[in-house]
Amino acid sequence: MISVATLFTALYLTASSSATAIRRQAPVTPTVKGTPQVLGVVSDPTLDRDSCGSVLMGGRVLWACRDTEPVGSDGVPTLPVISSTASWTDLDSNGFLVLNGDTYPMYGSNNNNPFYPIQSDECGDNSAGACSDGTRYAIWPDSPPLVTNTAADGTVTAYTWVTKGHIKSDLTNLSPDPDTSLYKVVYSPSAAHDALPTVTLVDEAFWAANKQVPYGAYGSVMSSDGSTAYLYGKSSKGTTALAKVPAGSIEDKSQYQFWENGAWTPTPPDLSAGDINIDNVSAGGQGTYYWSPPWSSYVWIGQPGISVSADFMITTSPNPEGPWTEPTKFYSAQNGNATLGAYSLQANPGLGAFANGANDIYLTYTKTDIINNVGIYSTPLIKVSWQ
Ligand SMILES: *[C@@H]1O[C@H](CO)[C@@H](O)[C@H](O)[C@H]1NC(C)=O
Ligand SMILES: *[C@@H]1O[C@H](CO)[C@@H](O)[C@H](O)[C@H]1NC(C)=O
Repeated sequence: MISVATLFTALYLTASSSATAIRRQAPVTPTVKGTPQVLGVVSDPTLDRDSCGSVLMGGRVLWACRDTEPVGSDGVPTLPVISSTASWTDLDSNGFLVLNGDTYPMYGSNNNNPFYPIQSDECGDNSAGACSDGTRYAIWPDSPPLVTNTAADGTVTAYTWVTKGHIKSDLTNLSPDPDTSLYKVVYSPSAAHDALPTVTLVDEAFWAANKQVPYGAYGSVMSSDGSTAYLYGKSSKGTTALAKVPAGSIEDKSQYQFWENGAWTPTPPDLSAGDINIDNVSAGGQGTYYWSPPWSSYVWIGQPGISVSADFMITTSPNPEGPWTEPTKFYSAQNGNATLGAYSLQANPGLGAFANGANDIYLTYTKTDIINNVGIYSTPLIKVSWQ
């Protein structure tokens, strides 16, 4: 007869090994319900900017964007260029953005300073990172801050990885696989309403140029139980690889593990390793990873590799490391009439997407239109419901 202790041990081992094993489940087949609705634009009318991504933080939504210019009273963008800025939007009692006319208002005190500080060796004496030789350090976030902790007093800790892009005036890279900087983003509930979270540099070369994958720069997602941060990085050759780290140990490189050859290893693989790419983990371009409670699935939504069209692609997986489904296109939004008409396609899971048991997702992208001979950016907001 089997003892109670043995039975307990057996049950315990079964439970703990299934918790760490890769979940196998039938893949989710996303099907759009009805017609996606264009709800309006998310905008701070005093700023013209592109490539915003969002995250829920302290009961509001924080948006972190790339190149920004102040907009004068004539509606025309003026200098200086600021390489990154952030904004708040308020949420209503349903957890959705507060609307004013057809605009979801953004606000916050950027004071013309980059949200992600530009360092002195990145031509940081100006807010654009412009160098005297005509090159530029483009300290452009590709994904919004990853919230790793909310303390009992409401203080929120988040992190962003930004590649230290050094570009020529034609936008080509002087260093295709540069260092990746780790920034820490801290929100204090006692700060002024208009104040933005404070951002400090943890390590300018957290991941080394030409040697390590820029984990976290391409995208990030917290595990469904909030314990583990999963960080995606993409090389200039298109390899997309994954690292994981306990949520409380982001700054401690010794706590990271790396997905290589179908298993986790504590040794960071070389950027050029042939066994670190994850098939179908995205459609190749910019996008957003998130956990979908109604689907019990990880999701990526974004754009194909090189694209200036608002074609939204999706892929899903029960686990961050896969297997991911083949990406499919589920929606095309309106392109702007400028040359770079639409880019930086994002999903915004923090906007009440799963409130009251709903299975919705809110999309945004950068739409660029020529208005009075000037290229103007806007950020349309679209609601998609799933069957
Ligand atoms: C998805 O992955 C499979 C290999 O598992 C590959 O054959 C296929 O080309 C991938 N599809 C895309 C769109 O990358
Ligand atoms: C481009 O689109 C904007 C916004 O809809 C519109 O105001 C403008 O007239 C369009 N320009 C051209 C050249 O079609």
